[in-house]
Amino acid sequence: MSEFVRSLKEGLLRRPRAISPKWFYDEAGSMLFERICDLPEYYPTRVELALLKRHAGEIADLIGPAVDLVEFGAGATRKARILLAALDSPARFVPVDISGEHLLGAVDRLRDDHTGLIVEPLVADFTGDMVLPPAIGRRSGFFPGSSIGNFEPEAALALLQRFERLLDGGWLLIGVDLVKDPRLLHAAYNDAAGVTAGFNLNLWARANREANADFVIDNWMHSAFYNPPLHRIEMHLVSRVQQRVSVGDEVIEFAEGDSVHTENSYKYTVEGFRHLAREAGWLPQAVWTDSQNLFSMHLLRGRSGS
Ligand code: AVJ
Repeated sequence: MSEFVRSLKEGLLRRPRAISPKWFYDEAGSMLFERICDLPEYYPTRVELALLKRHAGEIADLIGPAVDLVEFGAGATRKARILLAALDSPARFVPVDISGEHLLGAVDRLRDDHTGLIVEPLVADFTGDMVLPPAIGRRSGFFPGSSIGNFEPEAALALLQRFERLLDGGWLLIGVDLVKDPRLLHAAYNDAAGVTAGFNLNLWARANREANADFVIDNWMHSAFYNPPLHRIEMHLVSRVQQRVSVGDEVIEFAEGDSVHTENSYKYTVEGFRHLAREAGWLPQAVWTDSQNLFSMHLLRGRSGS
C-alpha cells in the first residue's frame, strides 16, 4: 500500500477526520496549485515574487558566494530562479519536492535556462526522512510561499529545528504570510473562479485514481474560513449528503455536513515568526515586507556547525 493510501485511510478513520495537505500535490494538484498562484485573489505569490525581485541583490550580498542552495517544496522553481540569478556563483541547486514528475519537468526547463548551474533534484517528502546529497559548499535553505503555515506551531518549531541542523550553520530564506484583514484571507482561499475549490476536491479525485476509492465529487463542498483565535485558514471538504464511500476495502459513512480537514494555513506577525525562529535555534538577520504588510520574507542565520 502506498504511503498516500495508508495516510488517507488513517485520516478518514480518525476523529476529527483530517488528511495532510502534502497529499494535494500529485501531478494534477501541482498544476492546480500553479493556477492558484496566478489568481488575482491569491496575493502571497505575487507579493513574495515582488519582494524577491526588489531585494534579491541585498539578499545575495548577505548570503555570499558559492552556496549550495536547497529549496524545500520547490514546485515550479519560479522563485528560486530569481534568487539563483542574483546569487554570486551558486555551487549547486538542490530542489526538493514530493511531486516527482512535476519537479523533474521544472528542473529540465531550469537547466535549459541556466546552463552551467549544477541542479540536483531530490524527489522526497521534506517532512520525512529526506537525505540531502553531501554538501559541496556552504549550505543555504530556501523555503518560500509560506509553506511553513501548513504546520501546527509545534510541528513548525520542530521543522525549523530540523532545517537548522540540516543546513549546518548556513542561511535560511523563508517566506511567511502575515496576519491581516480576514476578508482578504477569505477571498484568497475562496477565489471566484473556483480554482482553490478544485485544488481541494482534487484530493478525492486522487483517492479515486490511486486508492481504489469511489468518491462522488459532486457530493462534496469546498470550505475555507479564517479561524481568528488560531490565526489560521482552515480548509475542509464537507459532505453535502449522507453517503457511504469505499476506499479500497474500507467503507466509510458520512452524514450530511460531516467534514474532513484538509489544510491549515497559519498566519504570523513579523515578531511572532521571529520568536518562533529564535526558539528553533535560528538567528533572525533581516526581514522584508511589502508596504501593505501582506507578506514577509525572513533571512535567518544558523548556529549549528562551523
Ligand atoms: C502552499 C501551503 C502556502 O496555504 O496558502 C493555497 C496552499 N491552499 N490555496 C497556502 C494553498 C489553498 C498554500 N501553501
